[in-house]
Amino acid sequence: MELDGNLSVETLDASCEGENSPAAHVTILVCSSCRDETGSDAHPRAGAKLAESARAAGENHGITVRSVECLGNCKRRLSAAILRDGSWSYVFGDLAITSGDDLVTGAKLFATSTDGLIPWRGRPDSLKRGLVARIPPLDLIKEDK
Ligand code: FES
Repeated sequence: MELDGNLSVETLDASCEGENSPAAHVTILVCSSCRDETGSDAHPRAGAKLAESARAAGENHGITVRSVECLGNCKRRLSAAILRDGSWSYVFGDLAITSGDDLVTGAKLFATSTDGLIPWRGRPDSLKRGLVARIPPLDLIKEDK
């Protein structure tokens, strides 16, 4: 399995997805408050344009796109997250207003993932270079004793 960097991870219980399981529901969150590289306060903000790009790309693919005010990733400019129930959550930065297609490509890969991770292979470059963090689902966390 190819992973982000050299981190080793536990995979989710195989019962969460089988090879013939229908695609899981994936949601893209886009920060609509992010400014462009000039820092302009003009509206619509660059983040709102990215959200619109993702909405347009996600139409007819069953991908939900929601706008949020801030993902706390402002220093990495245009930011978005990709979430799937019971799976890892991903935060991305350094996106462009035209990255909507890349976000939807990543979301579609995630929807059919069998291990609860967005596959590295086939992931758009912007979602490789722009990865800020991935957060495991609570169910995967084992309590320290
Ligand atoms: S304003 Fe977009 S992440 Fe904070």
